[in-house]
Amino acid sequence: MILVTGATGNVGRVVLDKLSAAGQDVRALIRNPARASMPPGVEAVPGDLADPASLSAALSGVDRMFLLLPPGTHPAPVVETALRSGVAHITMLGSLTAQTHPDSPVGRGTLHAEQALRDSGLGWTALRAWEFASNTLAWAPSIRDTGVVEVPHGGLPSPVIDPADIASVAATVLAQADRGGHDGKIYPLTGPEDLTVADKVGMIAAALGRELKLEDHNDAQAAAEAMWLPGVCTIEGPGVLPTVEDITGTPARSFRQWANDHVHAFR
Ligand SMILES: NC(=O)c1ccc[n+]([C@@H]2O[C@H](COP(=O)([O-])OP(=O)(O)OC[C@H]3O[C@@H](n4cnc5c(N)ncnc54)[C@H](OP(=O)(O)O)[C@@H]3O)[C@@H](O)[C@H]2O)c1
Repeated sequence: MILVTGATGNVGRVVLDKLSAAGQDVRALIRNPARASMPPGVEAVPGDLADPASLSAALSGVDRMFLLLPPGTHPAPVVETALRSGVAHITMLGSLTAQTHPDSPVGRGTLHAEQALRDSGLGWTALRAWEFASNTLAWAPSIRDTGVVEVPHGGLPSPVIDPADIASVAATVLAQADRGGHDGKIYPLTGPEDLTVADKVGMIAAALGRELKLEDHNDAQAAAEAMWLPGVCTIEGPGVLPTVEDITGTPARSFRQWANDHVHAFR
């Protein structure tokens, strides 16, 4: 049995869909199961990652786990609870800033969580993802209301990744975990091209079939103070990496494809 956390989110929901479609026994950890709709045959079990004691029912009979750690959750108690419940392998989602900016708060958080996995003695695989395409959903209200994307700063080009590709890598690792090969591996994940904010706005406009205006306020201080602004990456990226295709056998999906798939959110 595979337990998927973050199962209502951008990545976890697709992990659930892919594992369920592949015929794996899969269960979703959900804070409020009454509010969530699940794929056919997937059971939703309540639990809160911020309260590891609440996880025992969800972990019963589970041997593999997809883990993402939302803000306010601590890796060690969750990993220890999983180990005590009989979990053998955890595939964990973290940030590629662990490699590019290890001294940043986000990079340190991922390194800390990965250390908890190493210390546990469990089998583990770490996914380190770069900027998600779905971060541009923060622009959806203003695109819908005014057709304008207003950013404090345009940031730097970034190889933004479709969360569905992270989910594909996770599902591949989870389905193969008992056959080894992925144990103790760290997978750095990016999309297939470096894109500016203007590129992304242009691709959303093309998906919508109407013009959008980009207002870049060029506020250097705002860019210096935050690594990420909504839909904007202000730090030097890792460049385009081949890992998605290496693991899944399928090229990483483009932002253009993501925008077409999610155009309804911007209408
Ligand atoms: N955005 C990026 O650019 C980026 C880049 C690298 C890594 N990441 C990592 O990716 C993860 C976010 O992934 P995502 O975008 O797929 O998530 P998301 O869409 O933001 O959804 C968060 C998920 O976590 C669940 N959740 C939140 N708090 C929880 C708790 N205390 N206990 C149990 N479940 C909880 C939510 O469930 P509810 O339905 O209960 O709210 C939801 O399913 C984070 O760990 C982030 O650090 C993000």
